[in-house]
Amino acid sequence: WETFVEDIRAIETLKRERNAVILAHNYQTPEIFHCVADIRGDSLALAREAQETDADVIVMAGVHFMAETAKMLNPHSTVLIPDLHAGCSLADSITGRDVRLLRERHPGVPVVTYVNTSAEVKAESDICCTSGNAKRVVESLGTDRVIMIPDEFLARNIEAETGIKMITWAGHCEVHERFTPQEIERMRADHPGLVVLAHPECPPDVVAASDFSGSTAMMGDFVRGHTGSRILLVTECSMSDNLAVQYPQTEFVRPCNMCPHMKRITLSNIRRALETMTHEVTLDPELASRGRRAVERMLAI
Ligand code: 13P
Ligand code: SF4
Repeated sequence: WETFVEDIRAIETLKRERNAVILAHNYQTPEIFHCVADIRGDSLALAREAQETDADVIVMAGVHFMAETAKMLNPHSTVLIPDLHAGCSLADSITGRDVRLLRERHPGVPVVTYVNTSAEVKAESDICCTSGNAKRVVESLGTDRVIMIPDEFLARNIEAETGIKMITWAGHCEVHERFTPQEIERMRADHPGLVVLAHPECPPDVVAASDFSGSTAMMGDFVRGHTGSRILLVTECSMSDNLAVQYPQTEFVRPCNMCPHMKRITLSNIRRALETMTHEVTLDPELASRGRRAVERMLAI
């Protein structure tokens, strides 16, 4: 605890000295999420806030693609990620060349790219989406077919919701792909009255076995509207930890799966990032400008 408190105090001082803000994803651990973050949210909220902040320094308490998106949307700020190896299995599953090959194979079909991708992949895309706006983004295109990459399960879940045919890529979130419908049924049997919320990165049979599916922010809103319930969040572990702090009267049932990439961010490396101004995220300007178009098109919807 003493080290935590010392780090928190040092981070608060450094934030003031550097005119810095800390953006924290909902999967960050409670001491980061509740004690040092200035802005908290899902991928969509963090992108919007990164675009709007007038801070000189943005520290991304999240993963690398989130820091790249922040830099794209706010090229004049210094964007820091406390650990350069905070990656993502979805972002690692696809390259810009893969997107060019998909376009050649399916000429004229629009490419919708999940924000969980590198700047290089965003630069090859028509429009981005997050789990919070994927349905709206896909429907806005007015086509009966869409190339939706790289998350196969998100694409299939959106296909089921919209009826729009998806051409998919075999990318998966290593956290959400591990859940099964059998696990959910077992939990329902053990915990009567359980309300099950699943992230749309889960396989379609897991979403079908749940009562609600939405982004991490949408799950948070659902929990706010159902205080006192018994809830299973089929997602990353810190999500329940953070909401349990805010809603002590709600019972959060486990299991959960942990994201090793999100967990690379700690109070001590956030402190070090602000002390040493590392690791700065930089982007090739031409790539950044093409990627920004796809992200800004999404944000305009
Ligand atoms: P959202 O917070 O946008 O729902 O994304 C979840 C996720 O897995 C981010 O890496
Ligand atoms: Fe990527 Fe999944 Fe971790 Fe999110 S939870 S950063 S999608 S591996």
